[in-house]
Amino acid sequence: MTTRPNNDSSRPRARCGKLVSTAIVAAGFALAAAPAMAVNWGAVDSKTVVLFSPGQASFEWSMTQTDHSGAQRFREGRNCMYCHDGEQRDIGDLIVAAEGRGAQLEPKPMAAAGKPGAIDLDVQTAHDGDRLYFRLQWREAAYDGEKMDPDNAARVTVMLDDGTVREATRAGCWGACHDDAMGMASDPSGADLTKYLFASRTGATRSGGGENYKPDAEIQDLFGKGMFLEYWQARLQHDSAAQAVEGYILEKRHEREAQNVSAEAEYADGAWTVVLSRPLKAGGGQHKDLEPGKNYNIGFAVHNNFTDHRFHHVSLEYTLALDGGEASFIARRQ
Ligand code: HEC
Repeated sequence: MTTRPNNDSSRPRARCGKLVSTAIVAAGFALAAAPAMAVNWGAVDSKTVVLFSPGQASFEWSMTQTDHSGAQRFREGRNCMYCHDGEQRDIGDLIVAAEGRGAQLEPKPMAAAGKPGAIDLDVQTAHDGDRLYFRLQWREAAYDGEKMDPDNAARVTVMLDDGTVREATRAGCWGACHDDAMGMASDPSGADLTKYLFASRTGATRSGGGENYKPDAEIQDLFGKGMFLEYWQARLQHDSAAQAVEGYILEKRHEREAQNVSAEAEYADGAWTVVLSRPLKAGGGQHKDLEPGKNYNIGFAVHNNFTDHRFHHVSLEYTLALDGGEASFIARRQ
């Protein structure tokens, strides 16, 4: 992860003018633009997070020594980042080409169509005492393959936990990524499992927790205790406003049109700039309250170039704190 100065694009009108005059690309602006304008992004540090193609590398895969040489030490307490920080690009290249070791993790090679193994996501975060903001920037790749999700040119997602979900602390997004989820190696036909947490299952094997659901009452009880991962997502089209959705993952992925999360996006010169935000205290049971003095676990994912499901680029596990402390990202008050 590198820190570098960022471009100040806190003046969308000026950039919009440039877009119109060059007429090379379409620009999309969300209507509810007010919140992010409160942040002076030019004064906020930017860090580059390398997102990579994970293929079918599930949580169960990463726990199995015969599949993954890091499994034993992961089980003993090393997090993914401990071994893999700095290797994300190599891992992604191997998997997207589906060659050599990569072939075991990705039966569908997409490198030839132009899908990159990894993409750089420039991340800024700040709060204004009222809302937490992420500003996320990345380049669209020159990809001419299948449009898996024709409705969305891209999607960008932030996943967040407050330490309740242990697997998310250890492995970020992998805490919810199982071998029997849709499109994964042990996907049982017809079950259409989305992401879920082990806590919602009575047991699990190398192929995941399947449909071994705990009784509803127990799942409700877990939900009440904050045993879920929260996520915020912006769905992006080149020529219309961003659409925000929010959701949580427990026994499955629950999604709704955003009530607390807002998204703004701009597409210019082949690059996306997206601001996602939500109130620090969103309440409603489906959100984690955000406050200084605590560490949160966060992960990022981009479904670039109309991709769907596992064909996204994902980050390893990061941490976030408000105002100060020891974390990968510090959201300071602006
Ligand atoms: C103790 C170190 C260690 C930990 C912790 C660890 N890994 Fe690995 N991982 C490895 C090694 C070693 C390889 C094999 C690379 C090789 O053979 O050169 C590997 C391979 C991989 C690969 C395949 C790419 C390749 O080069 O073969 C992926 C994907 C991966 N790990 C993901 C994860 C994830 C996700 C986690 C956390 C859940 C994790 N790893 C935790 C050591 C580790």
